[in-house]
Amino acid sequence: MTLPSTAREIRLASRPEGFPTPDDFDLVEVPLPDLADGQVLVRNQVMSVDPYMRGRMNAGKSYVEPFELGAALDGGAVGEVVASKAAGFEVGDTVLHGLGWREYAAVDAANATTVDPQAAPLGAYLGVLGMPGMTAYAGLLDVAAFKEGDVVFVSGAAGAVGQVAGQVARLRGARRVIGSAGSEAKVRYLVDELGFDAAFNYKDGPVAEQLAKAAPDGIDVYFDNVGGEHLEAAIASFNTFGRAALCGSISGYNTAPTGPRNLGLAVGKRLTLRGFLVYDHQHLREEFVREVGGWVAAGELRYQETVTEGLDRAPEAFIGMLRGENLGKALVTL
Ligand SMILES: NC(=O)c1ccc[n+]([C@@H]2O[C@H](COP(=O)([O-])OP(=O)(O)OC[C@H]3O[C@@H](n4cnc5c(N)ncnc54)[C@H](OP(=O)(O)O)[C@@H]3O)[C@@H](O)[C@H]2O)c1
Repeated sequence: MTLPSTAREIRLASRPEGFPTPDDFDLVEVPLPDLADGQVLVRNQVMSVDPYMRGRMNAGKSYVEPFELGAALDGGAVGEVVASKAAGFEVGDTVLHGLGWREYAAVDAANATTVDPQAAPLGAYLGVLGMPGMTAYAGLLDVAAFKEGDVVFVSGAAGAVGQVAGQVARLRGARRVIGSAGSEAKVRYLVDELGFDAAFNYKDGPVAEQLAKAAPDGIDVYFDNVGGEHLEAAIASFNTFGRAALCGSISGYNTAPTGPRNLGLAVGKRLTLRGFLVYDHQHLREEFVREVGGWVAAGELRYQETVTEGLDRAPEAFIGMLRGENLGKALVTL
């Protein structure tokens, strides 16, 4: 295969204030990267746009280093090895790695994982069987200590993490699974296709009122992708000894965050509100792949992806995801 001499990448042009705009990104043509010993050259085929990337666009450290201005962005991607200077990797292998937002990436072998393109569609390694799916699994089971018979509420339920979290709860024997999302179509998807017992559009009215109606007997577990008003509503609806997995708070990523004003209820209700990062739960990986992979293969756990074509449209896909235009996992094919 003849390789091109140049390839395109997307750089952070400016740090967004509020919602990112296309002007915050630059599409740049650069020479193909040189390959050092121990690296593979990957032609990226599909890449992920994720909410955490928004935090990295701000100056100052969050839980990951900020993206550098004028440098290529990065993030989860899957592609084909087109040259290898690393033992254990052959041309033609398919690898999962962390250098998305570019057409070709020189990846250290230690940061590349071979995946089987026959076993699942490439996008699944970035979604249902990848980091977001694992986040749902670890958050529900490890962090919120879900147990059979729990009433579970998931916010951001029609997104990459949420769609898996709600279904794992259902398949593991939840008494009732409730989801919230930002459109009627998403609400229908949750109930009609994913088997949620109830769902509501958080834009239709106060979350606390809608949740109380959907969960007349209260909730035991809250999987929080949203924070703010949603977290406040969950605290209000919690039964005693309720447990929240604080996964993300996307309602405050582009606008001023609001805090739950009723945190005092956590005392009397003896609540556990626990933040987590998926990376700390790798001990569950094999079990996750076996259980969730099995449910997907058997058609018991369903998922959606929203795919945008073309690296040049990655900023648009990212901004759209932050605005809720995605159903399921937001991906970009290159
Ligand atoms: N802790 C970890 O290790 C970890 C790992 C991965 C992801 N996360 C977090 O998990 C959450 C979900 O991530 P994801 O990858 O699955 O993204 P996603 O849900 O596929 O996409 C983001 C969704 O957030 C919703 N949203 C945007 N603004 C909102 C608002 N103001 N209020 C309520 N919902 C809003 C939108 O859906 P609607 O149409 O429903 O508004 C949008 O589709 C994020 O908070 C992310 O930061 C955490």
